[in-house]
Amino acid sequence: MRVGVFDSGVGGLSVVKSLLEHQLFESIIYFGDTARVPYGVKDKNTIVRYSLEALEFFKNFEIDMLIVACNSVSAYAIQELRVNAPFKVIGVIEPGVLAVQNALKHKDTNILILGTRATIASQRYAHLLQNCGYNNLTSLAPSLFVPIVEEGIFEGALLQSAMEHYFKDLVTPDAIILGCTHFPLLASAIQNYFPNSLLIHSGEAIVEHLRVHCDFAKQSNATKLQLFASENPENLKATAKKWLGDLFL
Ligand code: DGL
Repeated sequence: MRVGVFDSGVGGLSVVKSLLEHQLFESIIYFGDTARVPYGVKDKNTIVRYSLEALEFFKNFEIDMLIVACNSVSAYAIQELRVNAPFKVIGVIEPGVLAVQNALKHKDTNILILGTRATIASQRYAHLLQNCGYNNLTSLAPSLFVPIVEEGIFEGALLQSAMEHYFKDLVTPDAIILGCTHFPLLASAIQNYFPNSLLIHSGEAIVEHLRVHCDFAKQSNATKLQLFASENPENLKATAKKWLGDLFL
């Protein structure tokens, strides 16, 4: 099976990493809209327009499905993409909610939803979780985390003070949804800050969702990964080399 992965920038490589680790696809076409990242501070109309433009790019390839790794796009443009796409389109929010349901049996579990401003403003995670009965939710948009990751900072004093800034008044959550492609890259730092909280990661949630909802006749031994970016593709490739390590051939 061939899949497209769409993100606003390089962050969707966190989802690609999980897809490569589980060897579900024979090929992955990745497109990051690096010329226009970040999406998470833009309004719905802009996010929908950018997403439909990215869809035109994917129509040039014979893919069986498109995974929207970007939470901001998943929050605001998934319906428009589904209506206009000739292939299946899967966002990350429903899989994230499925992962919560699988992991957390008590509905009063204290869940912290982290996302971009757009994702949090859409309330997609909060509404879906409320529909499943979860009633102890806190939503937070730690906007500085995105440029920190873009700078290649995954630990240290700067990240520590950003976490302090956003997290200092919170009651320790039982679970934290990393509802932005960039945040899994900060997973160890966030886990150190909240050592007893369960982290829910979009990439792993997508894999779980795909195994339940898609029919994979066979596993692929080696996934071919092609990387495209609307600006500076060399930077995307360099980041992929760093983040994906041996998985990136
Ligand atoms: N990819 C975005 C998301 O997951 C994060 C970066 C951005 O703001 O574009 O929401």
